[in-house]
Amino acid sequence: MKKHLLSAGDLTREDAIRVLDTAAELLGVAQRPIKKLPTLRGRTVVNLFFEDSTRTRISFEAAAKRLSADVINFSAKGSSVSKGESLKDTALTLQAMGADAVVIRHHFSGAPHRLAAAGWTNGAVVNAGDGTHEHPTQALLDAFTMRSHLMPGGGVGADLEGKNVTIVGDVLHSRVARSNALLLHTLGANVTLVAPPTLLPVGVDTWPVETSYDLDESLEKADAIMMLRVQRERMNASYFPTEREYSRRYGLDTTRMNRLPDHAIVLHPGPMNRGMEITADVADSGRSVIVEQVTNGVAVRMAVLYLLVGGATNEEEGS
Ligand code: NCD
Repeated sequence: MKKHLLSAGDLTREDAIRVLDTAAELLGVAQRPIKKLPTLRGRTVVNLFFEDSTRTRISFEAAAKRLSADVINFSAKGSSVSKGESLKDTALTLQAMGADAVVIRHHFSGAPHRLAAAGWTNGAVVNAGDGTHEHPTQALLDAFTMRSHLMPGGGVGADLEGKNVTIVGDVLHSRVARSNALLLHTLGANVTLVAPPTLLPVGVDTWPVETSYDLDESLEKADAIMMLRVQRERMNASYFPTEREYSRRYGLDTTRMNRLPDHAIVLHPGPMNRGMEITADVADSGRSVIVEQVTNGVAVRMAVLYLLVGGATNEEEGS
């Protein structure tokens, strides 16, 4: 493993399987009456959140606490960032407090890379979502969830060779889609991105994926389908005619869900716009693994923190 986890592309196939297998072992901790391991006792994990978040922030916090780390939660609102303090000065302050890991979410793509490359912290930097760029731990928890459903025996030790994953919707603004495309490719899956032409990023032809504008034609072969949130807060123009039109062409409803193969699962990273990219019926159906993704997220983040900060050796130092 590299010292930092900045991009899903930082992980080799072996690294990714190691994280997923470690997470599979750690998942058991959540089922115990006392959900705690002493592994990171005496280590400090700083959660640095410059952008709103519910599940990712509490997931990292739960993960660090279950490994007995000391956790410092920092959110930009109510801190000196609202007085104009820079990322550098904030990071140096945290460094002075001795962070072994810095988990960072930032509205600027590249902020975690800057933090790691500039040496503003000695700790391992974990990207928890940067702008529209990447969200590698989300991709890991998605891969974990797919593996546990789609590979024989729950998939321990396995990759996702030959599985077809369809990712649908606002790819343009989605760091989840980019990280998933990279990681799923590393794990041997075939990825199809389905979106209106206006919501596919420039340069998507260089990604290791196929693209389509037609959701209906990609349903029958999908082993897993991931619906993306329409990210209104990042839209400064109108990318589709109306919400109704969007749902009609790119939303997952029961009729479409019934055309998926029997074993296929439905994912969504959350937060959902129920009724837009996914209907409430589908979100709450037996095919949906959306709540399971959240549970698995804690185990995957425990695995990442353990492998980057804990006892495991970093054979390959560097960013
Ligand atoms: C995603 C994010 O923040 O990138 N959510 C998450 O981490 N659970 C996706 C989104 O906001 O739509």
